[in-house]
Amino acid sequence: MNHEFQPAPIPERVRQIDELPGPPGIPFLGNALQINPSKAHQQFERWAAEHGSPYRLKIGPKQIVVWADHRVANQLLRSRPDAFRRGGRISEVLDEMRIGGLFAAEGAAWLSQRKLVMQALNVTHFPGFYPTLQKIALRLHARLTRLCKEGREVDMLHELTGFTVDAVCALAFGTDPNTLEQGPDRIQKQLQRIFPMFMKRLLAPVPYWRWFRLPQDRALDSALDEVHAYVRTLIDGARAQMQRHPDRPPANLLQSMLAAGAAASTSGDERHPFPDAAISANVLTLLLAGEDTTAHSLAWTIFHLCGDPALQDELAEQAREVMGRDAVCSDYQLLQQFDLFEATVTEAQRLNPVVAMLSFTPTSATVVDDVALPPDCIVYIVSRPDMADASNFHDPERFDPHRWLERRHGAAHEPRAFLQFGAGPRVCPGRHLAVVQMRLVLSTILNSFHMDLACTPESIEEMNAFTVMPSRMPVHLRPRH
Ligand code: HEM
Repeated sequence: MNHEFQPAPIPERVRQIDELPGPPGIPFLGNALQINPSKAHQQFERWAAEHGSPYRLKIGPKQIVVWADHRVANQLLRSRPDAFRRGGRISEVLDEMRIGGLFAAEGAAWLSQRKLVMQALNVTHFPGFYPTLQKIALRLHARLTRLCKEGREVDMLHELTGFTVDAVCALAFGTDPNTLEQGPDRIQKQLQRIFPMFMKRLLAPVPYWRWFRLPQDRALDSALDEVHAYVRTLIDGARAQMQRHPDRPPANLLQSMLAAGAAASTSGDERHPFPDAAISANVLTLLLAGEDTTAHSLAWTIFHLCGDPALQDELAEQAREVMGRDAVCSDYQLLQQFDLFEATVTEAQRLNPVVAMLSFTPTSATVVDDVALPPDCIVYIVSRPDMADASNFHDPERFDPHRWLERRHGAAHEPRAFLQFGAGPRVCPGRHLAVVQMRLVLSTILNSFHMDLACTPESIEEMNAFTVMPSRMPVHLRPRH
């Protein structure tokens, strides 16, 4: 199915998982008690530094192998869907939460959903969609201007997440929930409960919630009920609009899925991939996959920019040259000139990857590197160690966005170690949308404001809620002109 991937030759001596080095665990639970889900990536990174790559772990009865090696990561990512699937419980846990859309799907269901999502998020739609993005960016600008005038601290995590939720909803579902202006949105809050619990369930030694519910599980259930009811209103609204205008082609992803579902059911295909439950799961998948990843990458970028006022000035100068005095970039094509803005986000993602861990499970017994993997084991890739390694990136601790734009003779630069959007057949279908949003948001902020952190950098912690977010990002703004 995948023609890019060439299986590596099988080495002469193959190691079993038990032969790998790794931290000692305890009977039955293995290493489970040593892993705090919200800090799991840091623990996995520390073990990689201590035991090398690969090393082994056990969580309950599950055998786990962890690599901190981009060559292995590329091999696994590109060998899907045939040789590897998403790791461990990811798909089951998402399905149980009724959010098992494209991210969780495998096999034929994945392929049909993938085609539709790729089509809906294709860059060819962006010029037509740009006025909507501009409108949302103008709202962000107006809010920041007001907070700046009032001399108030800006909660950047809140502002950025509001922006990304509104942008994904507008493009994929044709609605504008205006979370940016409607204050702390209830659905937004319920969405924020889902990923931390997802992470806990992923790393739990046994799936206890299938036998009894703790208070945290009951809180998750009611959050899920609420977001599913909200999605139901989106679906009903889209369906009503399609009935009012039956001759119009689908205008967004939600309408495309409804049209595909309707076509399959009228043709009598019982196995059609888009019953309402699958549509609802995909609406939530896109919301969840699209909002935090982009907002958190931007938040980490702002963190690094606050420590580098000279770079802020350089970006502001570029923004001013292209945008003049406009609050928001007036033309989609002009965004092409903001390569340094994208490089700045890429560099922030290198130092503070929001995707710090990727996981896989082999579809049958196989050998990777020189390690024999049984079909029920879990493989984790930790992404940061290789991005912080001097053999891959020259002067790796330095925040240096220009490294992504200039070829420097003799300086190590290995872009294949940067896997923040994944790779291969399941590479992130939202990456182009994410990049457009990042160029737009950063140019909007930097053309108008200087930013300073409103707390010490050390007080900001990394929190793993499937994507790694900063614990907070309070910023003071000063007008630039
Ligand atoms: C900075 C922003 C983003 C980052 C870092 C990111 C990262 C990723 C990564 C690492 C994967 C897994 C790829 C793989 O398995 O090879 C992924 C998958 C996915 N992403 Fe993103 N993403 C971002 C933004 C978005 C946006 C804006 C959307 C949509 C609105 C989106 C939708 C998805 C979906 C649906 C998948 C599942 C694809 C599949 O399994 O076939 N992402 N993303």
